[in-house]
Amino acid sequence: MERTFLMIKPDGVQRGLIGEIVSRFERKGLKLVAAKFMRVSEELAEKHYAEHVGKDFYPPLIRFITSGPVFAMVWEGDNAVALTRAMIGKTNAVEAAPGTIRSDYAVHTNFNLIHGSDSPENAEREIANFFRPEELVDYELTIQRWI
Ligand code: PPS
Repeated sequence: MERTFLMIKPDGVQRGLIGEIVSRFERKGLKLVAAKFMRVSEELAEKHYAEHVGKDFYPPLIRFITSGPVFAMVWEGDNAVALTRAMIGKTNAVEAAPGTIRSDYAVHTNFNLIHGSDSPENAEREIANFFRPEELVDYELTIQRWI
């Protein structure tokens, strides 16, 4: 079983899309392991997006992610990283495949609703940045036997 870190960004929270987005991952059959409604501090934002320092979009990205509450989550399932990235769609909503979250709800690259880890290694790092080990809930999701 693989874990991934997903975060509904401030635009998704403000637009009332938490329930809609969470529901998609639930219905896919992924298992929710942790969730937190929170503000991202400047320090945490810089840690999370460290690999993008120096890029043009870095300063607005940090301002955006710290501008309002986010909904941070850990989800688990076979191929959770690739599956959730496919469900989220490409960074630019114009290029996101129909039926993906960004295609269905986003318009601009800078307000693209949700972050998803891009590799299992990054997922582990991002989960550790946002959650303490004891915040990850250990339980059996019985429907996963059928998925
Ligand atoms: S890269 O250079 O290919 O690694 O960048 P990319 O993966 O496309 O994007 C990295 C994160 O930056 C966000 N992004 C932007 N935010 C604001 N404005 C602009 N123009 C912009 N371009 C990219 C993008 O959504 C990624 O954030 P996350 O949170 O991972 O989605």
